[in-house]
Amino acid sequence: MRTQVCIVGGGPSGLLLGQILHRAGIDTRILERRPRAHVLSRIRAGVLEGGTVDMLRRAGVGDRLAREGFVHTGTRVASRDRAFRIDFAESAGKPVTVYGQTEVTQDLYDARDASDAAPVIHGVEGVTIHGADTDVPHVTYDAGGTAHRIDCDWVVGCDGFHGVSRRTIPEAVRTEVERVYPFGWLGVLSETPPVDHELIYANSPRGFALASMRNENLSRYYVQAPVTDRAEDWPDDRFWDELRRRLPADAAETLVTGPSIEKSLAPLRSFICEPMRWGRLCLVGDAAHIVPPTGAKGLNLAVSDVHYLSEGLIAACGGEAEGMDRYSDRALARVWKAVRYSWWFTTLMHRYPDDTAFHQKMQEAEIAYLDGSPAARTVFAENYVGLPF
Ligand code: FAD
Ligand code: PHB
Repeated sequence: MRTQVCIVGGGPSGLLLGQILHRAGIDTRILERRPRAHVLSRIRAGVLEGGTVDMLRRAGVGDRLAREGFVHTGTRVASRDRAFRIDFAESAGKPVTVYGQTEVTQDLYDARDASDAAPVIHGVEGVTIHGADTDVPHVTYDAGGTAHRIDCDWVVGCDGFHGVSRRTIPEAVRTEVERVYPFGWLGVLSETPPVDHELIYANSPRGFALASMRNENLSRYYVQAPVTDRAEDWPDDRFWDELRRRLPADAAETLVTGPSIEKSLAPLRSFICEPMRWGRLCLVGDAAHIVPPTGAKGLNLAVSDVHYLSEGLIAACGGEAEGMDRYSDRALARVWKAVRYSWWFTTLMHRYPDDTAFHQKMQEAEIAYLDGSPAARTVFAENYVGLPF
């Protein structure tokens, strides 16, 4: 089989890249290890930057998002003795949109189904990328007990943190920078009305908590938890008790609880692989970088990577190489800024095992500064709503 661009991974970044390239008349094949139902059931991101919404709209998958997404013009930040709102419209001139990653992925699958693009190939095993440092790369894999080969012009690794693409780049070529945080996020989805109409990020002496949502009757909550805990260690009652103790008092009083319909623990890390291109292989999204979810940046970064790469690939397929030569540098310039912001917000909001009174006082002083300074709120908001791309 032959295609112009072979995409490894059918998560949000692989599907969006496939959609944009298809609309530009470029042939793609998408290889996905898991069944579609599994990909669609992963509860992850919930907050989309304006640039992400624009990209999805331009890719022809913005209709349901425009109808069903919730525009948020601010967020609440709370600490032990204060709770305040950061107004995105006032401080950054742009809102964000609450629309689940599951919905984005569903819209992208629907668009691929409705088009004449080759369907996503699910259940692939043993994906191997060959000749990425030549002009004639190819990809081999097994599906349904048969070996397959795809010859292509470019291979794009959209296969997440544990995928095969990044590891195809020789160790001597790539540099990896990592910070593993000494805690995780325990997340619960429940069919209950959200505690507030906006998100609440809470720094509490018992650890961080986040109140988020998907719609009027679907709440998403997180509490900081030891990374060694398992979801089974957190029966619903324990989770709701702990959440209540960490949220600001007014929210704790009105919190509506109910049975969890999903519960999982995610470790937190910052991870960056440089460069994001080696020969004819490019990395996109979580395959190249991970940020802690505190700033809601992961999916949004995957989308800005897709923006830079799709421009480069469309130009390259028309015989113009420069965009591909600049892909890694353009993408990484934005990635590092989001890495900084996610690390800063994580450090500001969580309890660390080796915390001292000094560290806690510094958090309190910084949160007070954020509350009192329009300049500090502008810095927060322009990063939260997304730096331009
Ligand atoms: P993935 O979603 O990981 O998709 C990779 C795909 O590749 C998967 O479908 C996988 O099955 C497939 N694959 C893997 N290996 C192979 C292989 N060898 N062969 C073929 N296929 C393979 N981001 C935000 O922007 N906002 C948020 O609010 C937010 N909240 C989050 C909350 C949590 C709890 C977590 C865990 C993450 C959150 N994120 C958030 C991050 C966001 O979910 C990710 O950044 C996003 O999923 C990255 O998309 P991706 O397509 O690059 O990778
Ligand atoms: C979510 O709704 O899942 C969510 C929202 C904001 C974040 C992280 C996750 O910062």
